[in-house]
Amino acid sequence: MFKHAIIVGASAGIGAALAKQLGMAGCAVALVARRGDEIEQLAAEINTTAKQPLARAYQHDVLNVDEVEGLFQEITRDIGGLDLIVFAAGVMPTVAPDEYNIQKDALILDVNVRGAFAWLNEAARRFERVKRGTIVGISSIAGDRGRRGNPAYCTSKAALNTYLESLRNRIARFGVKVVVAKPGFVDTDMTKGLPGLFWLITAQRAAELILKAAKRGKKTAYIPARWRFVGLVIRFFPSFIFRRLNI
Ligand SMILES: NC(=O)c1ccc[n+]([C@@H]2O[C@H](COP(=O)([O-])OP(=O)(O)OC[C@H]3O[C@@H](n4cnc5c(N)ncnc54)[C@H](OP(=O)(O)O)[C@@H]3O)[C@@H](O)[C@H]2O)c1
Repeated sequence: MFKHAIIVGASAGIGAALAKQLGMAGCAVALVARRGDEIEQLAAEINTTAKQPLARAYQHDVLNVDEVEGLFQEITRDIGGLDLIVFAAGVMPTVAPDEYNIQKDALILDVNVRGAFAWLNEAARRFERVKRGTIVGISSIAGDRGRRGNPAYCTSKAALNTYLESLRNRIARFGVKVVVAKPGFVDTDMTKGLPGLFWLITAQRAAELILKAAKRGKKTAYIPARWRFVGLVIRFFPSFIFRRLNI
């Protein structure tokens, strides 16, 4: 269904799995990330398997927001259009229970939020003009409530949710779909070695479910759907109970 896509954060985990699945389905796909070797290799792998030059790699650090406008234009020219963009780039450094570290917090917000604004603003402008397109932001179940574990990460995902809702309210009337994907735990570098993981799914499974939600133009998709109930329960816990729970 999608013919031209950009995946920001395509060198590993969920973004890499999305790029592979789109390539296998015959979609021209731009892979964006800092690790140039990883995305070059993945693009070559996709092109070999698809037996056509569908994937291209673009090395980029989302902290460099000034590069985005030009790179976005270059990519859409190179791949011949755009009907899907997924912002999958994200960081979640380990934060100790008694740690208050502005450098880590700023990095989380800069990558997960400012980076998303830079890329998705460009996509929104283009999609509004052409009156079609799908924007997907990879948020998290962590954005549904402010947990004690990683305040800046939870905040970054809550901010992303609100930004994506605002984008949808701006551009839905032009026929543009804006999808918030909220994964639970996914087995990637981000979660490697973390204690207390449950209902862990593979990046491949997460990518399948995210693409299904994108095709349907779902507003919010918990990945997998069972996390919707967790989200519902934790959002409605009264604060005095929630702060006593170690979650
Ligand atoms: N894993 C989970 O359980 C889980 C759950 C909920 C939500 N999520 C979200 O899903 C998204 C993907 O996470 P993942 O689990 O697939 O993590 P991952 O395997 O660590 O991949 C993260 C991706 O983000 C890219 N990235 C990080 N910093 C970047 C930067 N400054 N510039 C450009 N790209 C950058 C990385 O590429 P480079 O390092 O090559 O730049 C990599 O491609 C994230 O937004 C994460 O918050 C993950």
